[in-house]
Amino acid sequence: MAIKIIVKDPDPVLREKCKPVTKINANIHKLLNDMADTMYDAEGVGLAAPQIGILKRVIVMDVGDEKGLIELINPEVIETEGEQVGPEGCLSIPGMNGDVRRAHRVVVKGLDRDGNEIVVEGTELLARCILHEVDHLNGVLYTDLADKVYRVDPKGGEA
Ligand code: NI
Repeated sequence: MAIKIIVKDPDPVLREKCKPVTKINANIHKLLNDMADTMYDAEGVGLAAPQIGILKRVIVMDVGDEKGLIELINPEVIETEGEQVGPEGCLSIPGMNGDVRRAHRVVVKGLDRDGNEIVVEGTELLARCILHEVDHLNGVLYTDLADKVYRVDPKGGEA
């Protein structure tokens, strides 16, 4: 178990475009393990590799539904549908929320830790989380998209 330090905005590492993973090996497995440990320790619902300073296209999510922990390597959003507007937070921007317009339903494909292609469909919070984490891989933060950003009590549930 390794809990990593979460990089905070405005660290420039959060603005980099991450590189695709070309080989899934023990380093990637360790990265996935560390990311999940770090996300759960911070009581977050998602984490992207650049948030622990690693510029690779890797995300983890767990919104507390029956899907449990989702690990995705080289995620690609392949379908979006509908619209939702709601509060969003980020582990790299603690104590803040913003109202962000996102798709209501998202389909994402990527590789699992064994290199198999998987497709994940999410609505509501999971759809929001998928889009939020994929944005991180492109150097985009929710504050770039939010209509307004405001202070909240830290409560977990950030991504
Ligand atoms: Ni975030």
